[in-house]
Amino acid sequence: MQRMSLPQGTLFDSDTPLALGSHAFVLPGLALPYVPELLPALDAIQRVAPFRHMVTPGGFEMSVQLTNCGALGWVTDRHGYRYTAHDPATGQPWPPMPPSFLHLAREAAARAGFDDFTQDACLINCYEPGSRMSLHQDRNEQDLFAPVVSVSLGLPAIFQFGGLTRSGRPARVPLVHGDVVVWGGPDRLRYHGVLPIEDGLHPLLGARRINFTLRRAA
Ligand code: SIN
Ligand code: FE2
Repeated sequence: MQRMSLPQGTLFDSDTPLALGSHAFVLPGLALPYVPELLPALDAIQRVAPFRHMVTPGGFEMSVQLTNCGALGWVTDRHGYRYTAHDPATGQPWPPMPPSFLHLAREAAARAGFDDFTQDACLINCYEPGSRMSLHQDRNEQDLFAPVVSVSLGLPAIFQFGGLTRSGRPARVPLVHGDVVVWGGPDRLRYHGVLPIEDGLHPLLGARRINFTLRRAA
């Protein structure tokens, strides 16, 4: 699972996809060329649909703050988890999906062997040092084979990637700014989470990690 650092130009340099399953891959640095488009797009989204803490059905406030873009956005409250077309905070539709998000998702999905998926939902999570995401499955979407494309920016994280049940020790996958993870098909319901983010300052994003996941929800 460790990122290898070998001289540039060797076959197994740090850009080599890392297989987490037959249909699950880390694509190191794949998002880097898109960052100049992604960051202004994220700023524009959060001006319309600000990051906010949401409450789980069990009544716990999530440690990450979230927002969405695209036709559908993932929300949680005391009534449960679901997708909505409108931001419950403003009553307005979620901001549209930026083209750069779709282009990156298409490239990432294709590299992981998933062609011709279009995503209608994008959940954007903002982590501060100490924020975490406990192990869970993404299962609020209609098609539970279509890939999830997960893009990491800012502070590094340890992503946990487990099996189809909660039992067993999940793999610990270090993710840094620009890394993309894709999982779908038989790996679509793998449990995953994020360990508490460590203190740090990222040159572009400061004391934050932003992760956004694109999915086909409807
Ligand atoms: C998620 O599972 O929604 C977030 C994953 C991550 O932050 O890397
Ligand atoms: Fe998830």
